[in-house]
Amino acid sequence: MATQEELKRAVAQAALKFVRPGQVLGVGTGSTVDLFIDALAAAKIDVPAAVSSSERSSQRLAGCGIRTLDLNDVDTLPVYVDGADEIDPGFSMIKGGGAALTREKIVAAVATTFVCIADASKRVDVLGRFPLPVEVIPMARAYVIRELARLGGQPKWRVGVVTDNGNVIIDVHGLRITDPVTLEARINAIVGVVTNGLFAARGADVLLLGTAEGVKELRRP
Ligand code: 5RP
Repeated sequence: MATQEELKRAVAQAALKFVRPGQVLGVGTGSTVDLFIDALAAAKIDVPAAVSSSERSSQRLAGCGIRTLDLNDVDTLPVYVDGADEIDPGFSMIKGGGAALTREKIVAAVATTFVCIADASKRVDVLGRFPLPVEVIPMARAYVIRELARLGGQPKWRVGVVTDNGNVIIDVHGLRITDPVTLEARINAIVGVVTNGLFAARGADVLLLGTAEGVKELRRP
């Protein structure tokens, strides 16, 4: 039986086929993406530069000799590779376990194709067992917690975590998200919210799912 780490390594390796030689690549954040960056470096594919979604990934890319570009200096981004905390049958996701959700969502918005790399444990029928991360301007923390509680979940401040953008994270526990597009927009409309970890308006296009039977390549339905 393959371990979760082995499944992550397998999808990281499988994602290499989506990398376009000679073109700038969008790179997400997390332990699966760390393995993808390592695989990318080992494969020696001609990637002129990457746009990174976090300081963590930028450092790892630099350690592998891959330079990073400011997104503002890039007009198009053919491919973005990133992980997920949960992904549903419609390819909506919960992301932000690593607190990088805002930059991830910005890079994903620019990318033409979002390739999600995930081990089988991330595939769920309904999103919400994983607490939904929300990035919040620090002075709005208590207000946003009160507003999020009105949506039915249990919001909890992720104490001690400061995002790359200098903000705080609130994780909403106990949600059962049957309409992710509507909930994403509703939470983003709360004043003080920078963005939330639902990637539904812009979900994944391709899912590379690491299973005991091998990596499954699935397209958005
Ligand atoms: C970080 C993310 C990650 O993609 C998500 O947390 C998955 O991480 P991992 O690959 O470590 O399981 O959204 O903000």
